[in-house]
Amino acid sequence: MKKIVVIYWSGTGNTEQMATAVADGAKNNDGVSVELIAVSNASKSNVLEADAVALGCPSMGDEVLEETEMEPFVKTLQAAELTGKPLALFGSYGWGEGQWMTDWVERMKGLGAVLVADGLIVQEVPNEEGLSLCKELGMKLALSAVKE
Ligand SMILES: Cc1cc2nc3c(=O)[nH]c(=O)nc-3n(C[C@H](O)[C@H](O)[C@H](O)COP(=O)(O)O)c2cc1C
Repeated sequence: MKKIVVIYWSGTGNTEQMATAVADGAKNNDGVSVELIAVSNASKSNVLEADAVALGCPSMGDEVLEETEMEPFVKTLQAAELTGKPLALFGSYGWGEGQWMTDWVERMKGLGAVLVADGLIVQEVPNEEGLSLCKELGMKLALSAVKE
């Protein structure tokens, strides 16, 4: 059984809805177990023990990750621990052009993670199309975990 973990931060629930849909998409695959965890309840070992990881965070501050919980968590992840690990990134935004996600993708690639898709961004509350993109992302992540 391959382990997938979806770890997210969400202030008003938009990224949480995305996270739930990513987890649902991943669960649609045989041979995987999926855990959905708010970052406040997550630890680095959740990432280390997983075969594939999805991280979600909205655009906060001025096009940055949320700074009290998500940014410190992402900072704990070291290059050696992410090398070769399939990773999906997603999050909701308000008015920007997604710079936080572009930066996040580059940062995680720099740590050696294998991004299974482009960072998925959805404006504010995800609509049906947004949720189905999240499910697809979860499916892709599960497939890459099974292939590992
Ligand atoms: C303090 C704060 C800062 C924000 N900064 C940005 C930003 O720089 N760019 C942007 O596109 N949206 C920004 N937003 C909007 C949020 O990304 C957007 O409302 C998102 O849907 C929130 O997701 P959540 O419900 O998962 O918390 C900001 C929101 C807050 C509360």
